[in-house]
Amino acid sequence: MTLGPADEDLVKVAALARQRAYAPYSTYRVGAAIRTARNRVHAGANVENVSYGHTICAERAAAFAAVNAGDRAFETIAIVIDGDRLPSPCGACRQVLAEFAPDMRVVLATVGGLRHQTTLTELLPAPFLPGDLRPE
Ligand code: THU
Repeated sequence: MTLGPADEDLVKVAALARQRAYAPYSTYRVGAAIRTARNRVHAGANVENVSYGHTICAERAAAFAAVNAGDRAFETIAIVIDGDRLPSPCGACRQVLAEFAPDMRVVLATVGGLRHQTTLTELLPAPFLPGDLRPE
């Protein structure tokens, strides 16, 4: 499918971020870039650790960069890998994104030019949301 120029720019930023991935264990390098309502872009890549469980995914790295910049109104995330099939964000990243924007747009991409546009609602139809918390 064809994406708009803003989406293609976001994919480019995610692809640049991917070059900074630290993934010596899996060698699976991922880049992500989030565009917010203020039209700012925040990027991240996966950062692995020799103690594997401490690894952070690209999507959460980008989300936390945005939140730390005071920019929580996520509109679109682009996620990029280099492979012959599209990436699919893990469950933890879906939940973290949903905290701030449960219906945000998601653009999945490969360096080689594959594209798929979807929504977080489609990827995580029944998220646990801040409004679900109730005092005991
Ligand atoms: N990873 C991401 O960065 N994003 C995803 O959507 C899936 C997984 C990373 C975590 C780890 O560094 C490597 O990919 C293999 O799981």
